[in-house]
Amino acid sequence: MSKRYTITAALPYTNGPIHIGHLAGVYVPADIYARFKRLTDNDVLFICGSDEHGVPITIKAKKEGITPQDVVDKYHAIIKTSFEDFGITFDNYSRTSAQIHHETASEFFKTLYDKHEFVEEVTEQLYDEEANQFLADRFVTGTCPKCGHEEAYGDQCENCGSSLSATELINPKSAITGNVPTLKETKHWFLPLNKHENFLREWILEGHKKDWKPNVYGQVKSWIDDGLRPRAVTRDLDWGIPVPVPGGEGKVLYVWFDAPIGYISATKEWANREGKDWTPYWKDKDTKLLHFIGKDNIVFHCIIFPSMLKAEGSYILPDNVPANEFLNLEGKKLSTSKNWAVWLPEYLEDFPGQQDVLRYVLTANAPESKDNDFTWKDFQARNNNELVAIFGNFINRVVVLTNKYYNGVVPKASEFSAVDEETLAAVRAYPDVIASSIERYRFREASQELMNLARLGNKYLADEEPWKLVKTDEARTKTIMYVALQIASALATLSEPFLPFTSEKLKRILDITGATWRAVKTQDELIESGHQIGKGELLFSKIEDKTIQAQLNKLEASKKANEAANATVEPQKDTITFEDFTKLDIRVGKILEAEKMPKTKKLLVLKVDTGIDTRTIVSGIAESFTPEEVIGKQVTVLVNLAPRALRGVESEGMILMTETPEGKLVFVNPDQAVKNGLQIS
Ligand code: 2FM
Ligand code: ZN
Repeated sequence: MSKRYTITAALPYTNGPIHIGHLAGVYVPADIYARFKRLTDNDVLFICGSDEHGVPITIKAKKEGITPQDVVDKYHAIIKTSFEDFGITFDNYSRTSAQIHHETASEFFKTLYDKHEFVEEVTEQLYDEEANQFLADRFVTGTCPKCGHEEAYGDQCENCGSSLSATELINPKSAITGNVPTLKETKHWFLPLNKHENFLREWILEGHKKDWKPNVYGQVKSWIDDGLRPRAVTRDLDWGIPVPVPGGEGKVLYVWFDAPIGYISATKEWANREGKDWTPYWKDKDTKLLHFIGKDNIVFHCIIFPSMLKAEGSYILPDNVPANEFLNLEGKKLSTSKNWAVWLPEYLEDFPGQQDVLRYVLTANAPESKDNDFTWKDFQARNNNELVAIFGNFINRVVVLTNKYYNGVVPKASEFSAVDEETLAAVRAYPDVIASSIERYRFREASQELMNLARLGNKYLADEEPWKLVKTDEARTKTIMYVALQIASALATLSEPFLPFTSEKLKRILDITGATWRAVKTQDELIESGHQIGKGELLFSKIEDKTIQAQLNKLEASKKANEAANATVEPQKDTITFEDFTKLDIRVGKILEAEKMPKTKKLLVLKVDTGIDTRTIVSGIAESFTPEEVIGKQVTVLVNLAPRALRGVESEGMILMTETPEGKLVFVNPDQAVKNGLQIS
């Protein structure tokens, strides 16, 4: 039965591009679900947009010396393009800086204000005297009172996941100036979550015990059991939606108050554009509202936003919030600030046209019930062993043989054998099998069932061996190829939610428009005898080891650069007198000869012209230079260092060096050629 679905995907913060964690956690599962619901003839509205307020955007703007609007304009465009590139089929991708959103969020706030759903309170908040600013959310860091993590933010500890308020932090520090904040009184509006506790208990803890994912239900339960408190929904900031009530001057709505309302504004924007009515998508009790999010958003979508909707009174509540856990990358937490990520624009540059490979790998390995790891080796294996060897191989055999035997015309089947009947019945069962997994938000399982259908096709061909029978039994060969072409056509439809680009390509190859989900179940023939298929194209191609190694090298380089950026500079040594300094005799010298010290990894034995003499210096630079590379180089030499024997060779001085972020030693030398023996002072 056709139903109306309002499907939302978390509005991404607009302070950076999108990475694989976002795709795996939210957007790919949401898109699979939306596509599936469309293919099964439902009325689907799939909504998202850029979350353009909040402190991280202001911080980024300050850092780059541009305005917050510049930041969001830049990343909104990048993010929107990434979603299009990866086939995420939003009906509308809006943004929270849009006029319609400002109006909708203001109106929502005013309604709650007029209904006395807020508590107004003057409290002491952290204040940065130098920056002349209150320090909310990410403008302040400090030690988490729950787990002791020293870099917790004023709104959340990323180590233990606790949601915090800035004043709870131990040893708070301003993220703007680094100063210790003072306390200053300010008025804010609070949503009294405690008032909604009974409703939340009944609605979620009693009403959704069975159908919500255990990870979501568990987090919500522990929040409610911990006791709900009023939560401030306004901030003393200048970037955001102005508080539209008396006393609200100079204050804005808390980003987590306005962002979820963004789903509603995006719906209105879509309806205006399409000439439709937006209200049934948010107000009709028969509409199923679903929020696809990551686990760090659970409290906002299961407790705060529903309390807001309930307080407003005219909206429906989410039917489900199928939140995912987190994806790690090569065993480590994905991190925007540490550049430990695979960014979508970069992926597309390195793997052009291979969006479906990433979609598939992220689905097959999705962090559905626990955190999961993305590794490049697994990416390669899933591509080579599943997409290429199973799915691609099956389609390729069917298309090549049909073209070879029948000039691309679908042959006529004669009598079906028991195996044919069983195979066709199994194919017809797949729409329900896959649907049942998708309905339960088990996208990993669903993707594996799809692959099982391709496996079934491969097995069928391997068992029936049309390439052998073609010489002896023309009628039987035709029947086998007819059955195989039905499987290929079923794959073209059933793969669409998961592998939309491949599905398109496959339909082009078979020259079909594709059936509906239901037709795959019920229709005797998905591709008719006599139909002319198109030319073959490879659906997937093998990924070589060197391609994977290049990605691993890229990550390694990013790790090193990050370590270097964060490396602490040694503290200054004890003060010395000028006389102490003059004792050091540092000169410009030239390396005349160099050879490796036998049986060592690090040492080179150098002959150096110091201008005074030519002497031997043993230097620990062999891991950074070959002997050939250093011969002829001018360097700085501490010439009056007491000689000492290294591996039996007397070293008479020291070459001065420093180190690059990657750990390579480099010479400290004059920036133009000078006379050997000149003193450095
Ligand atoms: O966590 C985030 O990236 C938030 N920007 C999600 C907001 S979802 C919704 F409420 F808008
Ligand atoms: Zn913590």
